[in-house]
Amino acid sequence: MEPAEMQEAVEKLEELVEKTDWGKDHRVEDLLLRSRNLAAALLDPYVLFHTKVVASLVKKRGGDRIDEVAAWLHDTGRVVTDDGHRDVGYLWAKKWLKKFYITDEEIERILDGIKNHGTKDDPKTKTGKMLKLVDALAVFDEGWAAMILKYYESVGKIEKAIKMLRKKASVIHELGSPEDVEEVERVAKMFGIEV
Ligand SMILES: [Fe+2]
Repeated sequence: MEPAEMQEAVEKLEELVEKTDWGKDHRVEDLLLRSRNLAAALLDPYVLFHTKVVASLVKKRGGDRIDEVAAWLHDTGRVVTDDGHRDVGYLWAKKWLKKFYITDEEIERILDGIKNHGTKDDPKTKTGKMLKLVDALAVFDEGWAAMILKYYESVGKIEKAIKMLRKKASVIHELGSPEDVEEVERVAKMFGIEV
């Protein structure tokens, strides 16, 4: 075999192995690991704390690994902007996710979670719907709520934090179970907030 021919054959073999040797699970695991690493490396501590709560709630509620990936990536846009972070994150992820061997439907679910987890958004996929609810529930994690209220109080913007909590509570009233609503009211009461 000529060296050029040999090289071509090796590349062909690599391509074939790449397509067939990896089970899809491995690829999703790889994506999950990369998403967690990205969150840990790039997000500020407040957003990282929140993101960890979102990811653990997704797991607790029986989400699959695609839902988990969406949880870890949902606020990535905040690394560069708060306003429009969902659109920026969506556009970034649309390109980045092409690196991974997951299906178009799985990509769509992740993108829906990133783009449509806001209070006024209308997610279409099960991942997007879960993310919208869980993103709101995460705000009522006791530790996170305590931290964020303290922070906003220290910068004289406590009303802004309360307004955000109320907005998220409205999502839970709309999409959550009676237990979710109960939990949110319990935590809000702890901080003397009516939601
Ligand atoms: Fe979030």
